[in-house]
Amino acid sequence: MKIINATLRKTSGLHTVSWEGERISDIRVQAGRVSAEPGDIDAQSQLLIAPLVEPHIHLDATLTAGEPEWNMSGTLFEGIERWAQRKETITHEDTKLRAHTTIRMLAEHGIQHVRTHVDITDPTLGALKSMIEVREEARGLIDLQIVAFPQEGIESYAGGRELMERAVELGVDVVGGIPHFENTREQGVSSILFLMDLAERSGCLVDVHCDETDDPNSRFLEVLAEQARVRGMGSRVTASHTTAMGSYDNAYCFKLFRLLKLSGINFISCPTESIHLQGRFDSYPKRRGVTRVAELDRAGMNVCFGQDSIKDPWYPLGNGNILRVLDAGLHICHMMGFEDLARSLDLVTDNSARALNLGDRYGIAVGRPANLVLLDADSDYEAVRRQAKARVSIRGGKVLMTRVPERVEFMGL
Ligand code: FE2
Repeated sequence: MKIINATLRKTSGLHTVSWEGERISDIRVQAGRVSAEPGDIDAQSQLLIAPLVEPHIHLDATLTAGEPEWNMSGTLFEGIERWAQRKETITHEDTKLRAHTTIRMLAEHGIQHVRTHVDITDPTLGALKSMIEVREEARGLIDLQIVAFPQEGIESYAGGRELMERAVELGVDVVGGIPHFENTREQGVSSILFLMDLAERSGCLVDVHCDETDDPNSRFLEVLAEQARVRGMGSRVTASHTTAMGSYDNAYCFKLFRLLKLSGINFISCPTESIHLQGRFDSYPKRRGVTRVAELDRAGMNVCFGQDSIKDPWYPLGNGNILRVLDAGLHICHMMGFEDLARSLDLVTDNSARALNLGDRYGIAVGRPANLVLLDADSDYEAVRRQAKARVSIRGGKVLMTRVPERVEFMGL
């Protein structure tokens, strides 16, 4: 099969992309527009991209907002209270049903690679067991990476270390952490040493909820980066959120950036979640509570955007559309210069794929999986400006989904 008349990112001219079975077999620049043969998909000059990526979400909590009560203040702290109420009614089937429903929402928006954090601070590891089944059942729609996420801490939660080890034995892909939430600075540091040891031993990737606070004294990122550097694990390690970096003074941040660059770690920012939950102890001026996305990017480090939540006790909105998060993130992070807009899809495609270590399982190149998404726009700029939808999503060489673009007609004009 093939797609003709496609615009590819960062290239000029129209292209034909062909595949045989599950792999891309040929990519050719066309001399001009060509006509479709039976079975061809005509891109009509629109953008053909590798699938969108959701690098940071909590599928075990999605679609629970308002059950049994809504978060009226909108704060993180009331979110924790509401979640505690909802947690009492969680079952294996409930977790699976909500995860599958959310995955379908993500797939509808052209996402085919997802990393989910799953709370393992539960002696039964119930949510994790559900998610491991979901990972297999959802393979037709997405590739799912599961992070062992110790929501209540590794050192501060009774049996936290053992639960992390059991989660790795059950088959998670990624080891997580939450050092800023541990009871003391020392526990935060030792949790990072523990999780890095565990990842090194097991071969898991690392993705830590790191410094998700406005506290400028929350400085676990330097510990994580240094551990990644000395162990030579940087490309396999991700620091999620790092919102405290938005409150660090510039002198400290200047020194920190040197280490971050040497470490080679990845960064994930969840700008809609952070602008909503952070800054809550400020009156005015009020901080944005996001990490330094533009500065990390300009320093040559790998940074991408994630949704974090969809309709859960902490964040009531979201619909699976990562381009909505990209739109908001570009605003919030002051990345609306044309150069940023013209390559903005990097933040939700290639950069995210790199953070997830997808390697040659991702990208439009001969020999790679025929996973392709045709957007209803002809450039990154138009995709984000118009909030383009996925017109066609192809997975493993098969058409997974098509969408008829909406048509507006004015009457009597
Ligand atoms: Fe998160």
